[in-house]
Amino acid sequence: MTHPTLLLLSGSLRKGSYNRMLLAQAAEAFGPADVIEGDLDLPLYNGDLEEAEGVPEKVQALVAQIKDADAVVVGSPEYNKGITGVLKNALDWISRVPGWPLKDKPTVVVSASAGRTGGETAQFMALSCLTQHQARLIPGTAVLIAGAMNAFDEDGKLKDETSQKLLAERMEKLRAEVI
Ligand SMILES: Cc1cc2nc3c(=O)[nH]c(=O)nc-3n(C[C@H](O)[C@H](O)[C@H](O)COP(=O)(O)O)c2cc1C
Repeated sequence: MTHPTLLLLSGSLRKGSYNRMLLAQAAEAFGPADVIEGDLDLPLYNGDLEEAEGVPEKVQALVAQIKDADAVVVGSPEYNKGITGVLKNALDWISRVPGWPLKDKPTVVVSASAGRTGGETAQFMALSCLTQHQARLIPGTAVLIAGAMNAFDEDGKLKDETSQKLLAERMEKLRAEVI
């Protein structure tokens, strides 16, 4: 496939999010693709809401994006040693749509965090949750960007060459899964 569709899912909704910067870098490293960003700004999962109104349109739109995507990259920040409520909530909603939309979808998780571990614990949790979704997790050296507030230049590019290389290798592997 020469022009795959790459879906980016950020666990942070912040405009200036480092994880969104990292996802942008990941998309660049992935190479030619239709790049789309999923909107994870969803209502909180509530069984009563689901019963009364069904799965919200925004969730259905997200699921449609997942189904259309050839590959997915998740940017997982770390909040209190876990994934963000935003990401967990999105994964919970997605699981309410029959058929496990992420099933067998080539997927990579990357993380940027303020702390020294680069969000390693959260990334591990994200991988665990995605296993429940049966996503096809592409293995490789973890992309963990520590001290995120100093890790990107003014254009939002990763400063550290080793991190750039790791991300490039991982995206190459992801692309190889869809071509
Ligand atoms: C509620 C909260 C909890 C956080 N917990 C952690 C943490 O456990 N580990 C860590 O490295 N950074 C933690 N941080 C700092 C985040 O890494 C930092 O805010 C980062 O910029 C979030 O990602 P973003 O830039 O993509 O929004 C926390 C931030 C918030 C707001």
